[in-house]
Amino acid sequence: MTGSRLLGTGSALPRRIVTNAELAERVDTSDEWIVERTGIRQRHIAEPDETTATLATAAARAALADAGVDASSIGLIVLATATPDNTFPATATKVQAALGCRGGIAFDVAAVCSGFLYALATADSLLRTGMAKRALVIGAETFSRILDWEDRTTCVLFGDGAGAVVLEAPGADAGGSDAPGILGTRLHADGAHHDLLYVDGGPSTTQTVGHVRMRGPEVFRHAVVNLAGVLKEVLEEAGISSNEIDWVVPHQANARILDATAKKLGISPEKVVVTVDRHANTSAASVPLALDTARRDGRIKPGDLVMLEAMGGGFTWGASLIRM
Ligand code: UT7
Repeated sequence: MTGSRLLGTGSALPRRIVTNAELAERVDTSDEWIVERTGIRQRHIAEPDETTATLATAAARAALADAGVDASSIGLIVLATATPDNTFPATATKVQAALGCRGGIAFDVAAVCSGFLYALATADSLLRTGMAKRALVIGAETFSRILDWEDRTTCVLFGDGAGAVVLEAPGADAGGSDAPGILGTRLHADGAHHDLLYVDGGPSTTQTVGHVRMRGPEVFRHAVVNLAGVLKEVLEEAGISSNEIDWVVPHQANARILDATAKKLGISPEKVVVTVDRHANTSAASVPLALDTARRDGRIKPGDLVMLEAMGGGFTWGASLIRM
């Protein structure tokens, strides 16, 4: 039996675009290095009046409009972010207030770049158990606020943005793998790798926000192995072979990771949605941003079989197979 159905998608990006050439004026880097090693050409960076909550709200409004449903019908908001507006309350509650859909469930999920997968699985589980009928699942970040702009090994990699989906609980008539809905999800974490990707601050340790620290090459190696593994698990669970997949919508960290993962699974690179060139790594926002981009430009169509996947700090990683 299939899980929750995806009714609509939306996304939002900050107004300001920062090119690689502009970054090369601030740190010792070049457009050539960034494009060759990552595939990134530009990123959107939030202005002071743009926050995780404002971007999340704009993405949520776009998803509601796409789904053709009213905010008042949303009983659950799960927002994935590592860059909340405040330490508390959850940014999801700010989005809820801005949308005017008070009284339902609203909370944040912290799983960094895998946050959207964690949020989607959590929302799907709550919808299946009848805690709500409709949900907004949002990935939203202002990673620019936790970057060390002197550190060329990290500051060129990330961007800001938000993506959202509207999910509806499966009906009593939910069908098999041809029916629209979430067909299978797997999540993992391995806290032993904390020091490879973390933020060196926080309320309970330094009482500061801190900056992103990453040992990139090590993260890269783990990402390819972990992602290939979880994709296989989800396919096995759903009883589907990799050549039946119409589109892979991966976390957008590095074009080379996308290529290597697709190759390991024998999936053609033409089936992989790539937005890292335009958005860079937007952490929890990257999967829903890429999904919305590919739906709106007509690539992903109703009935398509779509695999979402992500890996990030923690480490955390996961994948979800959806019939659109
Ligand atoms: O979203 C969460 C998951 N995150 C990821 O998946 C990120 C995974 N890692 C990566 O994407 C890549 O490892 C990076 C893009 C971060 C780095 O690429 P790399 O090919 O692994 O490069 P490297 O770190 O091995 O650095 C190669 C060289 C070094 O110089 P030396 O030691 O060879 O002289 C770096 O100092 O490139 C140098 N370098 C730079 N040069 C110009 C590092 N950053 C830069 C830069 N501009 N921005």
